[in-house]
Amino acid sequence: MTRQRWTSRAVFILAALGSAVGLGNLWRFPYLAGKYGGGAFLIPYLIALVLVGVPMLILELAVGQKMQQGAVGSYTKLHPRFVGLGILALISSFIIVSYYAVVMAWSLVYLLASLKMNWSGDAEGYFYQEVLQTSNGIEQLGGINLSIFLSLLFVWFSVYFCVWQGTKSVGKVVKYSVPLPVILMSLLLIRAVTLPGFLQGWEMYLQPNWVALLNPEVWTAACSQIFYSLSLAFGIMVAYGSYKDRDDDITQDAWITALLDSGTSIFAGFVVFGVLGYMAWKIGTPLKDLAASGPGLAFVVFPEAISLMPLSKIFSILFFLMLFLLGIDSAFSMVAALNAAIADKYKHISLAQISLGFCLLLAIAGAIYTTRAGLYFLDLVDHFVTSYNLLLIGICQSILVGWVYGAEKMRRYINQVSHWQIGKWWNIAIKYIIPLALVTLLVTQFIQDIKTPYEGYPTWALGIGWTIALLPLLIFLWLLLKDKNKIISIEEQ
Ligand code: TRP
Repeated sequence: MTRQRWTSRAVFILAALGSAVGLGNLWRFPYLAGKYGGGAFLIPYLIALVLVGVPMLILELAVGQKMQQGAVGSYTKLHPRFVGLGILALISSFIIVSYYAVVMAWSLVYLLASLKMNWSGDAEGYFYQEVLQTSNGIEQLGGINLSIFLSLLFVWFSVYFCVWQGTKSVGKVVKYSVPLPVILMSLLLIRAVTLPGFLQGWEMYLQPNWVALLNPEVWTAACSQIFYSLSLAFGIMVAYGSYKDRDDDITQDAWITALLDSGTSIFAGFVVFGVLGYMAWKIGTPLKDLAASGPGLAFVVFPEAISLMPLSKIFSILFFLMLFLLGIDSAFSMVAALNAAIADKYKHISLAQISLGFCLLLAIAGAIYTTRAGLYFLDLVDHFVTSYNLLLIGICQSILVGWVYGAEKMRRYINQVSHWQIGKWWNIAIKYIIPLALVTLLVTQFIQDIKTPYEGYPTWALGIGWTIALLPLLIFLWLLLKDKNKIISIEEQ
């Protein structure tokens, strides 16, 4: 059986870009920029893009394209002892996408509620008490919240129909689902710049505070944002690369994807701060009290700001539709990565069946986040997966390709097929810069989490977090150190 292919190069780029551009561009980047030095933040951000993001994206695309397998198969082909690396990446993906879809489910709930918009005046109470009905602490589960759970089922239903035919169905969907949210973002931008106050918002977003660059935290934030935003370390880009021909271009595709992704983030910053500027003007609150990230921005501050605008219902619908569309390509890219790993190994099961299995499993796994304690679990799991699993995988990938397989060997392959040649700097980035940067991030995070337990959660809850961070790692190490012959026989089964 021949491997699936993207229908065109543009479709591949759209799919990779769709995975990269997600909620992170809208609710993480602008906030980080506002917090860490405004316009000055662009410097560490762009440096991290060039030295960490692009080289790693090139690496992942090259590994998938050369080996023509999903993450598990590809990394095993690079070295049989690294069979656990792909598994580690996919387990982490599974965990991330299980809650990412819940955020999309909230967006749908809000999309319907936009017709009434009864959050105006108390967006915070509306979000926590009415929509999520959040309990007082993580220990009070309080049962499943039915409307969110039903909405979650709808999300998985939609994801299923995006991936069930692999590159064929993904190819059809991304032509709309990738440009559309950017168009919606532009409409929101036009709305913002036709209202007073937006310039003050932009000023806060862009005014450079050069001193911030002396703070190491700014550099680590830039680096992890790049990593997260490009959907690296989760086996996604490896799987997407594996559906390209062995002699397709790699370098240009990676640059195009990375630059468009960062461009979208910077653009989203204008939208977010433009709207916040208007809100600050309208209610007379200092801008810096409004700046928020994560759910607080998308489901409290933004809805409130929109409710103050003329034509608020229309813009509210556009905004939540945009959130949903931003999320969906990232969500299904993850399922596509999982599918690839299973389809490589069990050739007799159809893609439709595998997709169905994963979507059902993920809907069930997501149920915990639809309980009244869901928000706490989401926050906790997100913290551990993005702080530890992501970095550990990144480090292992650069060791595997840089040191075990050989950066130079991989670079020769990349240059053979690409229009743009990459210099020896790529080897240095893969072998030294990326592992060093990621180890620094990991150690800083670890020290911080040991000093102050994350958000003061109870010990059992933090235990779950640490298990999520460490268990996949232990599986990886166990497979790495196990008898090599056994590993090869597993692979041949
Ligand atoms: N790139 C996504 C964003 O910016 C975040 C992301 C990374 C993600 N890996 C993921 C989302 C896996 C879903 C699944 O929002």
